[in-house]
Order: sequence, then structure tokens, then C-alpha cells
Amino acid sequence: MTINNVTVIGSGTMGSQIGIVAALNGFRTTIVDISDDALKAADEQLRYRMGRDVKKKRRSQADVGAAFERLTLTTDQAEAVKDADIVIEAAVENIEIKRKLFAELDSQAPAHAILATNSSNIVSSRLADATSRPEKVCNMHFFNPVLVMEACEVVGHDQTSEETLDTVAQLATDMGKKVIRVNQEIPGFIANRLLAALRTEALKLYQGGYASFEDIDIAATAALRHPMGPFELMDLVGIDVAYLIRKAEYEQTGEQESLPSPALEKKYNSGEYGRKTGRGWYVYDEEGKKIGPNEG
Ligand code: 3HC
Repeated sequence: MTINNVTVIGSGTMGSQIGIVAALNGFRTTIVDISDDALKAADEQLRYRMGRDVKKKRRSQADVGAAFERLTLTTDQAEAVKDADIVIEAAVENIEIKRKLFAELDSQAPAHAILATNSSNIVSSRLADATSRPEKVCNMHFFNPVLVMEACEVVGHDQTSEETLDTVAQLATDMGKKVIRVNQEIPGFIANRLLAALRTEALKLYQGGYASFEDIDIAATAALRHPMGPFELMDLVGIDVAYLIRKAEYEQTGEQESLPSPALEKKYNSGEYGRKTGRGWYVYDEEGKKIGPNEG
């Protein structure tokens, strides 16, 4: 199956960058959101990012211009999916919202269209039965920031067809990503499970008072040469996302150890989600540069 038209649902950090990466790689792309303000913010972010890339000679103005020509941002979901070959859902990490969305997409998208979710914790078998095309439903999981990270996990459920998985893997490759095929559903898939182990230990050390979160980040970067520490990475990914991932995992496992740690819960309840709100474990300026630790 050939993919020409890609529709992305959700214009947040992930959805907007999935959209621009698809457009940069030649696909006619539409990003959908329920909020005009969210679309405006996404457009500004993408133009800022692309502007930097052109200034730093990472891309040509012509390539960026052509990508924006191929990219549409809209609140009209029905119109946006009516010619889609694939819909990639990157909305909020909530099973009820996703199931409702998949049922809608099933009725709005052409019969041949693949319905994929960018979620790493809500496996597609939990969404497939909300549609009439389970064989065309799977996970296509990107990493933050999508413009930079080179991987994409492709995961089917028992009824996903090989053709769907091959098509999605080819699309990820055409979007410049290395594909990780996950053979069996497991919440978090591969990379996030590796990351979760580190994050859990980091939160445990912090809560136990063994070191400050800044020093734990220094251990990861200076001692292990990770590009950023687990706390700074939570701010990048979104403390809300990290929290909701744990909640979703708990729903699926019922195990106490899946629950978010008290420190993570406190941050989530305070609405300090990281870079996107300007405050998380650290404080950020308007351009997203780290200013210092959040002492609050
Ligand atoms: N969006 C797009 N591009 C970005 C970016 C962002 N948010 N942040 C940085 N970049 C790009 C820019 O091109 C930037 O150059 P510029 O500032 O001159 O334009 C370039 O990366 C370098 O950025 P910085 O100098 O600010 O910082 P670094 O050199 O540390 O790179 C990083 C930033 C690429 C984010 C790097 O620190 C990194 O790789 N961190 C680890 C990220 C990671 O682990 N991601 C996976 C998270 S798990 C996940 O996403 C799964 C999900 O399910 C939760």
C-alpha cells in the first residue's frame, strides 16, 4: 500500500513535529486539533524551529517552504481525514478519549486508511475494537523531539495485518526514522521501558534524599554521558505525559509499583509540566532554554 496523505490528530509537542517531519519528507500532511489556539501555538513553534534550521544551514529555505506548502493545520477533523491514507493519533494519553476518537476516525476515514496511535502505553488492541478495521490498527511510536530523535517503534496487536505493519514501517523509514519492530504488545514498548527503569530509580533516589535532582541529572550526563538527565528529560517529554503513562500502566497491570511516585504526582498536581509550561523540575525561558532549578 502506498502512503501519500498523512493526517495527524493532536498538535501538541509530538503531533506537531510528527506532522512537520512527514511534510518535510514529501507527504501531504494535515494536523488536526480541537483548539485554534493550540494550532496557532504549533504553527509558531514549527516556524521557529524551521527558521533556526535554515539559519544554521541544516535545511534549505526551499525545502522548508515546500514542507509548509504540503502542511495544513485545521480544526475540521472530518475534512482532514477524508482523503487520508494513514491517520496518526497523538492526542492526550487517555483511553476513553482515544477509543471515542478511533470510532470517529473509523467512520470518517476511507476504508483503506490505517489508523495508528503514537501512544507507547496504550497498546492498539485496546483501541482496535472501537473500529470496524482492527487489521489496520497499530501503534506507531515516535520520540521527543521528533525532529531530532531517529527512532520509531512499530507494534501491532494479534489482528493487525502484516501489510499494515510493513506499510507503517516503510512510512517511518521514509520519514527518516530507524524502525524498531516490537513483536508483541507490552506497555511502554522497548525504549520507554528502558527509560522508565532509569526514571523510577532517579525518583526513588531523589525522594529518599540521597541527592538533589540536579545532582542526579549530573550523574546521568557527566558520569554516564546521557544527553540529558532523567529529570530534565521528564521536563522535555512533559511531566503530565510521564504521570499519565504511569497511570495508564497501572490500569493495565494493577500493580502498585506501576503507580506514579509521590514526587511525580506532586509536580503533576501543581500543573508544572516542564518546558511546555515554563516550569517543571527546572525553569525555562520563552525559547525553552533552561534557566535553573525550580526551587518552588
Ligand atoms: N524540538 C526540536 N528540535 C530540538 C528541540 C526540540 N524541543 N530541542 C533541541 N532541538 C534540536 C535543535 O536543532 C537544537 O539546535 P538549535 O538550538 O541550534 O536549533 C539541537 O537539537 C541541539 O539542542 P540544544 O543545544 O538545546 O541541546 P542538546 O544538544 O542537549 O540537544 C536534545 C537536545 C536533542 C533534546 C538532546 O538533549 C537529547 O537527545 N536528549 C534526550 C532526548 C530523549 O531521550 N528523548 C526520548 C524521550 S522518550 C519519548 O519521547 C517517548 C514518549 O513516549 C514519551
